[in-house]
Amino acid sequence: METRYRPEELTRLPRSVAYEKGRVVMIDQTLLPAEFRTIELRTVDEVASAIVTMKVRGAPAIGAAAAFGLALYADTAKAKDRDGFMEGFYSAYEKLKNTRPTAVNLFWALNRIRKLVEENLESPLEEIRRLVVEEAHRIADEDVEANLRIGHYGAGALPEGNLLTHCNAGSLATVQLGTVGAVLRVMHRDGTLKLLWVDETRPVLQGARLSAWEYSYDGIPLKLISDDAAGFVMAQGKVDGIIVGADRIVANGDFANKIGTYSLAVLAKEHGIPFFTAAPLSTIDMELKSGKEIPIEERPGEEVLTCGGCKIAPDVDVYNPAFDVTPHKYLTGIITDRGVVYPPFERNLKKLFREGE
Ligand code: MRU
Repeated sequence: METRYRPEELTRLPRSVAYEKGRVVMIDQTLLPAEFRTIELRTVDEVASAIVTMKVRGAPAIGAAAAFGLALYADTAKAKDRDGFMEGFYSAYEKLKNTRPTAVNLFWALNRIRKLVEENLESPLEEIRRLVVEEAHRIADEDVEANLRIGHYGAGALPEGNLLTHCNAGSLATVQLGTVGAVLRVMHRDGTLKLLWVDETRPVLQGARLSAWEYSYDGIPLKLISDDAAGFVMAQGKVDGIIVGADRIVANGDFANKIGTYSLAVLAKEHGIPFFTAAPLSTIDMELKSGKEIPIEERPGEEVLTCGGCKIAPDVDVYNPAFDVTPHKYLTGIITDRGVVYPPFERNLKKLFREGE
């Protein structure tokens, strides 16, 4: 597809995660919006821990961070022979894999590199190291390109006017532009996005801390609302369309995304508001048939018991699912880097993958 804007015309933000010889460099998202700080990680354990503690978060950014974790291993592993290298490689792979269970981009990126390594086991060790690093960079570069296409496809599918989003599926959640972020940025450039409603997104506040920060940084007009206000804002006729990200979309179009997405989808149907998700093909898991099969991460109760580091509840039991599943019947369309998929999702997603072969 012809893209009308280049990434640097859409955002002033740098890449959220990158790799420089011997270190993974990322924006520490836990510090935003109070502080914009870039951190450098020099071991696979540090990268795995950054994913678990959400210093880096958002499905495609997690995938890229894990890929760079393997690049870091490949660059720095002291092993002299292939067996020693491979033993360490599988251990790094496992550590990174066991970080967050829901976003499929993590497994997609790790398996892509693992497959490449296993296909090249006969090559000299130095060649294998080089292949891993190059592939990790390719994964990150492709994410930016995919987002750019999503942005342009999405801008043609979403209604003009006021949009609402949940969580952060912006630049910070990907390598640079965002999935939802790219659509919003292209529409803002085109003059078709009047106002963005941003849900705060309890418990970790990705909407308030990250989306409000990055979209206002890029000059997108927005209003922050508490999660509880979303239904009323829709009832007041102030929302023309809703666009959210995805952590895993399965073969029938059901998808997992940040907790609270499902409630928005049901409310959108009640109010006749188009409801879209935007994601690259690396977020689509055609192995799973329905959303019921998606593993949903449960996070520490501490996230619900506190807000901004302050205790807001007594020490009671907490249930803290980080994601929910939205059945495909609530979805208007899935904006991908290969075009917008409309119902029937099962047939059209299959077709999308067949056409790419
Ligand atoms: O727990 P998080 O912050 O990693 O969850 C992020 C989301 O749910 C995003 O909407 C999703 O990963 C898509 S990011 C382009």
